[in-house]
Amino acid sequence: MHKAHIRGLGFYVPPKVVTNDDLSKLMYTNDAWIQERTGIRERRFAVRGEDTTTGMGVKAAKIAIERAGIDKNEIDFIIFATLSPDYYFPGPGVLVQRDLEIHTAGALDVRNQCSGFVYALSVADQYIRSGMYKNILVIGSELHSGGLDLTTRGRGVSVIFGDGAGAAVVSRSEDEQSAILSTHLHSQGQHAEELALLAPGMGSRWVTDILEDNNPDDESYLPYMNGQFVFKNAVVRFSEVIMEGLGANQMTPADIDMLIPHQANLRIAQFIQKKFGLKDQQVYNNIMRYGNTTAASIPIALTEAWEKGLIQKGSTVVLAAFGSGFTWGSVIMKW
Ligand code: UT7
Repeated sequence: MHKAHIRGLGFYVPPKVVTNDDLSKLMYTNDAWIQERTGIRERRFAVRGEDTTTGMGVKAAKIAIERAGIDKNEIDFIIFATLSPDYYFPGPGVLVQRDLEIHTAGALDVRNQCSGFVYALSVADQYIRSGMYKNILVIGSELHSGGLDLTTRGRGVSVIFGDGAGAAVVSRSEDEQSAILSTHLHSQGQHAEELALLAPGMGSRWVTDILEDNNPDDESYLPYMNGQFVFKNAVVRFSEVIMEGLGANQMTPADIDMLIPHQANLRIAQFIQKKFGLKDQQVYNNIMRYGNTTAASIPIALTEAWEKGLIQKGSTVVLAAFGSGFTWGSVIMKW
């Protein structure tokens, strides 16, 4: 059986910084509320016409491929996680294949929201373990700003999210010690509508109905979140799935060198840190600067932590995510 490891990492965020004060000019909110409830100070928003979900993913991917030290044509497969694709179909995986001009590698799109990158990494791990592929490009990218309601009506959701992309080249490991040890994935669809964009899919709402309705007050195209319910479930599921991963590898929280939690809310990450008795240097957070970038948040944070030298060869790295679906998961790896 082969083992997989992360061979290269990269991220890209749009240059436009949007502070909490900037948002308070668009809606009734304020810096103190946002920082106190979420830890967020600022986020990045794409400039319309400049960045796209695919384009940001491609920028992150180029860095990851270069750092992996492989030629782009050595990539056997592409996995793209996003909830904000450029097109309803086809998904952004094939657009990356086109824009990077990677021969005819297969491309798969993952629709698992905040857990998207963890799910995508798990898929990549299995393909490499089975021997089917050697190098897989895994991308998480989100352009949220174009889909947010930036009026007071949408403030409970819109102040949290930001745009950006992260990418990893996942490769067959030449060194047995450096490997993804396990991944654990879960879902609970009974809570699907608690954090969702409820616009019915094309299968259930006919174009003729949409045209006939033409209703400017139709809120079904805006994201909805039952914030407190999501928060309460998140803290429980994060803890469970991290313990599940550690247990499967005969580890305890003390073995964690670096925990990268999905950047949903700084309060959630702090709760987990406290619960597991982790020191500040064992957890990496950057939600303060980027907000919640959904499928991109883990690869962006992982890349930053690696760039800062906080992850070394031999480090035990834990990724954990929870979000819409509900879906959640964890990855345990040795760097
Ligand atoms: O990444 C996917 C997973 N997502 C999450 O994990 C998010 C989990 N949930 C959360 O992070 C928190 O629930 C939020 C940060 C979204 C909200 O914090 P909260 O402490 O649960 O606030 P709340 O929704 O209960 O709202 C409290 C008050 C309300 O006013 P009243 O009813 O008490 O008068 C809201 O209308 O704060 C008001 N409010 C705001 N005020 C200023 C809601 N949004 C804002 C805002 N600025 N942006």
